[in-house]
Amino acid sequence: MDKPIVIFGATGLLGTHLVRLLAEHNRFPVAVTHNRKVALPPGVPVYKAPLAAADAVGKTLHRFHPSLVINCAAYADVDGCESDPGRAARVNTLGAQNIAHAAAELEIPLVQVSTDYVFDGRNGPYDESAFPRPINIYGRTKHDAETAILKIKRDALIVRAASFIGRGPEGYPCFVEQIIKQLRAGKRLSAPIDQLANVTDVPTLSRAILAAADKKITGILHLGSRELLSRYDLAVLAADVFGLDQSLVEPVMYADLQRTTERPLNGGLVVRRAEKTLEISFPSPQETLLNLKRALDGG
Ligand SMILES: NC(=O)c1ccc[n+]([C@@H]2O[C@H](COP(=O)([O-])OP(=O)(O)OC[C@H]3O[C@@H](n4cnc5c(N)ncnc54)[C@H](OP(=O)(O)O)[C@@H]3O)[C@@H](O)[C@H]2O)c1
Repeated sequence: MDKPIVIFGATGLLGTHLVRLLAEHNRFPVAVTHNRKVALPPGVPVYKAPLAAADAVGKTLHRFHPSLVINCAAYADVDGCESDPGRAARVNTLGAQNIAHAAAELEIPLVQVSTDYVFDGRNGPYDESAFPRPINIYGRTKHDAETAILKIKRDALIVRAASFIGRGPEGYPCFVEQIIKQLRAGKRLSAPIDQLANVTDVPTLSRAILAAADKKITGILHLGSRELLSRYDLAVLAADVFGLDQSLVEPVMYADLQRTTERPLNGGLVVRRAEKTLEISFPSPQETLLNLKRALDGG
């Protein structure tokens, strides 16, 4: 029997897609969970391990001796990280380091999922050689993880992506599903015209991560749509694709939202390395939204 593939954060948006994809291809996912209870494909072994507990993380990898470990677990609530930096550091940095130490000890290939928020968003989009300069706690803890992992395990793959769009697990909708819900309820929505990034179709991201791991790509790899668009344009496009009232979306500047957390504005990722090395192209923002619609419609 082939060795399993261990997914940390298996109950999250990306984790559930990856586990499903692996199960569909008989590639033996092991789902590592934390607190959430979400439906996973039948027959998938589920193992509970808090990321910050090095012994639990180590035990998981010793027990399953996987051919690959993918870390999709994070404290990914950007505003939450700002108000609880201790938790952000424990989960995003220490947790990722724990996985890297165990993977290095057992010589297991490792993929760490990271973010465009490692950049400051002054002059994006950024390619893999650009110098990160995070401007919030989430970005800083994710960047600290990248740096630590590449020291602990030089052959790790760090995958950076932005704005995930895909059907979330029951009770945990992705941000576009939340926009749709608000527009369906006839509620107005303020969306910044000056906050730009790529979008990332989560089913394609799952395939691309596995393809990159299968090709033994190491170092940093940026994934996502080639096009960048503002949050305002994305919300208007989502309204269009879902047949909802676009006039409910109000264009604002990010500063008008008076949020306490700074976010990269002129951000996004250059995805040329991925386009050259993987035979997978990411759908455009419109196709990404259509994919989400099909998934929500049960198609
Ligand atoms: N969503 C985006 O737009 C986006 C964009 C760029 C990069 N990313 C990165 O992509 C990765 C996946 O994101 P996502 O949106 O799929 O995340 P998500 O839906 O928020 O899921 C995060 C997962 O991490 C688990 N987790 C949190 N704290 C944990 C802990 N202490 N110990 C063990 N597991 C823990 C969660 O389980 P519990 O809920 O049970 O704790 C959940 O399964 C993350 O690294 C994130 O930083 C996300």
